[in-house]
Amino acid sequence: MNITRRKAIQFAAIAGGSALLLPMAYQHISHAATTRSPQPEAFTVKLPIPPVLQPVRSDETTDYYEIVIRRNQAEILPGLLTEIWGYNGITPGPTIKQHQGRQSVVRFVNHVGASTSTHLHGMASLPQFDGYAEDLSSPGFYKDYIYPNNRAATFWYHDHAIDETAHHVYMGLAGMYIVQDDFELSLPLPKGKYDIPLIIDDKIFAHNGSLIFDDREHTSLMGDILLVNGAPLPRLEVANRKYRFRVLNGSVSRSYKLALSTGDDLIVIGTDGGLLEAPVRTKNLRLGMAERYELIIDFSKYPIGTQIVLQNLGLPNNTDFAGTSKIMRFDVVRNEPDNSLIPSKLRPFEALISPSARPTRRWTFEKRNDRWEINGNIWDRNRVDANPGLNDIEVWEIITNSRDWFHPVHIHLVHFQILERNGQPPLAYERGWKDVVYIGEDDNIKLVARFEPHQGKYMMHCHNTVHEDHAMMTQFEVGSGGVNPMSAPPRPLPATPL
Ligand code: C2O
Ligand code: CU
Ligand code: CU
Repeated sequence: MNITRRKAIQFAAIAGGSALLLPMAYQHISHAATTRSPQPEAFTVKLPIPPVLQPVRSDETTDYYEIVIRRNQAEILPGLLTEIWGYNGITPGPTIKQHQGRQSVVRFVNHVGASTSTHLHGMASLPQFDGYAEDLSSPGFYKDYIYPNNRAATFWYHDHAIDETAHHVYMGLAGMYIVQDDFELSLPLPKGKYDIPLIIDDKIFAHNGSLIFDDREHTSLMGDILLVNGAPLPRLEVANRKYRFRVLNGSVSRSYKLALSTGDDLIVIGTDGGLLEAPVRTKNLRLGMAERYELIIDFSKYPIGTQIVLQNLGLPNNTDFAGTSKIMRFDVVRNEPDNSLIPSKLRPFEALISPSARPTRRWTFEKRNDRWEINGNIWDRNRVDANPGLNDIEVWEIITNSRDWFHPVHIHLVHFQILERNGQPPLAYERGWKDVVYIGEDDNIKLVARFEPHQGKYMMHCHNTVHEDHAMMTQFEVGSGGVNPMSAPPRPLPATPL
């Protein structure tokens, strides 16, 4: 079956990618339940690096950016065109790089033909700029989002439209947003072109190249082709030195267990909320949807010519695994000096509370009555499920009562510390600031957060965005009298000058 498929793809490529010229056998196979997408040759496409977005203008305190959300055609599988939705027409969208303490104003102009709401995941934005799921921007409207950049970390912006998040993100509406501060820049870590984003996701392609959104009756979307930075199974040529990779799982429903084919350690230096206190070496790394981990890979030990595959070892309840066991390849192709170092101490970290602290609240994420529920409820914008005071420290227990599902749970506004996983300490690389916690099958997690710096309503949800849309999402309200998240609605074009 594989041979037939590969031949079919080569044929498609030779024929200029016209689906009409594909042999019938291929089209038949494309309907098989297990592997549906045309399979690209592994490690032939170069890893793309999303462009860094330049501000439209800057003043003393603020950089002003503009992003148009629109559809476009992309050649993702060689020889085939795919309609994507992209920030500035590309997926992933352009990377925004900021310095801590400067403010960003990002104007998102909606020309994508569907309603959107843009969320900067991980940023402590005011409620009206947080991409509240109901704060929809219609086609022909725009909204200027203000971001404080109060933390140095790897963030990402993505669509958050109510009921449609999974589809919109799947079509391509995601991009990286990096904030650095003087402290981090003063460390001798790899920088510049040796600091590379890796946005991993999975897709299903039809034989004509178009994306298939199949969420299996609102359970999960499991793609059989892995993309990194929008390219299928790409290859990156590296020098024999250290690199920093900012890894983001941009998938709708798939989680990954990363490992190097050489069996060497991944060196984790950062989590969702920025640098760890100290580097953590691990043979493999669990990466749930929306989680970010920053890794150092040291290629200096490999002779020129070495090829190292970034593998996915697979995790429970992720199907169609066969085609998704490889993610990308690093080819060591040249000598280069390396004056970077991995400091043994990174960013100082203080525990918010003792790990034995008693939970303030308990949240159960489970599937019941064919609904994805949190404490027996689905999303209702008129209901608030928790009301921590401003600056309160609360311990939240999150559980799932099932072996059949895992739920990466995301809390807006705050970064938290994981206290316990099933009564044990969290994984070594999770002992930093997080905004997503992987609730694995039958897991019971305890975390602690300080609810600041803003009052108001913020969402919490499963970041399997299929679950989120149907409608495993709730909201908490910090303090009282915070700004209404719907109070700065998008405005119709034409826009006033930025
Ligand atoms: Cu990354 Cu509420 O989302
Ligand atoms: Cu978020
Ligand atoms: Cu879930």
